[in-house]
Amino acid sequence: MDRILSTEELKEDIFEENIRPDNLDEYVGQNEIKENLRVFIKAAKMRNEPLDHVLLYGPPGLGKTTLAHIIANELGSTLRTASGPSIEKSGDLAAILSNLEPGDVLFIDEIHRMPSYIEEILYPAMEDFEIDLVIGGGEGKSKSIKINLPPFTLVGATTRAGDLSSPLRDRFGIVAKLEYYTFDELKDIVMRSGRVFSINVNEDAAMELAKRSRKTPRVANRLFRRVRDFALVEGTGVIDMDITKKALARLHVDDSGLDSIDREYLTSLIEKFNGGPVGVETIATSIGEEVTTVEDVVEPYLLQEGFIKRTNRGRVATEKAYEALGYSYNVGLFKEN
Ligand SMILES: Nc1ncnc2c1ncn2[C@@H]1O[C@H](COP(=O)(O)OP(=O)(O)OP(=O)(O)O)[C@@H](O)[C@H]1O
Ligand SMILES: [Mg+2]
Repeated sequence: MDRILSTEELKEDIFEENIRPDNLDEYVGQNEIKENLRVFIKAAKMRNEPLDHVLLYGPPGLGKTTLAHIIANELGSTLRTASGPSIEKSGDLAAILSNLEPGDVLFIDEIHRMPSYIEEILYPAMEDFEIDLVIGGGEGKSKSIKINLPPFTLVGATTRAGDLSSPLRDRFGIVAKLEYYTFDELKDIVMRSGRVFSINVNEDAAMELAKRSRKTPRVANRLFRRVRDFALVEGTGVIDMDITKKALARLHVDDSGLDSIDREYLTSLIEKFNGGPVGVETIATSIGEEVTTVEDVVEPYLLQEGFIKRTNRGRVATEKAYEALGYSYNVGLFKEN
């Protein structure tokens, strides 16, 4: 079982590596961020200075990691990666920082999950390219030494900007919020994936995939992968509307663009809690998910698309949610009486 899983993961990794755009021109959408970055990167190169530190935030799968790679690439720099949860001791971070070469881009994924006492090491590192290390300890014998760092750029990524302490957030000169993608942009991403993997994709089929992708490139690429399999085995080798519809039906992806957790969330909210208001913890428990998953992964899309509303008494399902799941909107109102 383990082996099957890890092979699958490995395949995903290889796929990711091939499919990831590696420069700004190939990165679809997020136009404002892209155009600003172009200017900042060019200016940094003209001045021969490192790019200011960049914070990327937004829901999963919208292209934060991809953008971090692109930034390093466009700067002609080396990208070093670390992730918040893997930095457990201050020494871990100190080691990463003191091994940087001039001009490197240090990417810290899930930066909000770094403990605050470790975060503090980053403040002088980001501001003055130095760190204060406390050495020794016990009986007043510890002493603090200063280590100079080469100039570098920190790129932090997070699904929750709100969880960053403000001293950390304030030290990022460039803060970019990634938005959900339009159908046209997702269609371009699917067409591009077709080119990368040398498979013909018809425009209408690409648009169909785009519409069912939760406005998220990762989902679009995942669907593309599956449909590609169907096209190869049961179709003509081309991704056309026919095989796309067939594949999507077989994968139980419906045309509302909602995925299975979205549906569970909304069904629970409507059936068990009469459409709300109900607290997020209660909903999370009822569908067996972590509160953070619900808040970071599920709700941003449902809110953005108007399936739910946040009130000070909790979450409420909107008429759109009732309709999408085939409930009559009045049911909730009758039950209350
Ligand atoms: N703008 C884009 N253009 C083309 N492909 C994209 C774009 N954004 C993301 N992708 C593709 O979508 C997938 C997910 O992107 P990525 O891993 O960068 O997301 P993420 O924001 O880092 O997600 P997470 O929060 O889960 O780490 C990748 O396969 C990437 O190639
Ligand atoms: Mg990522």
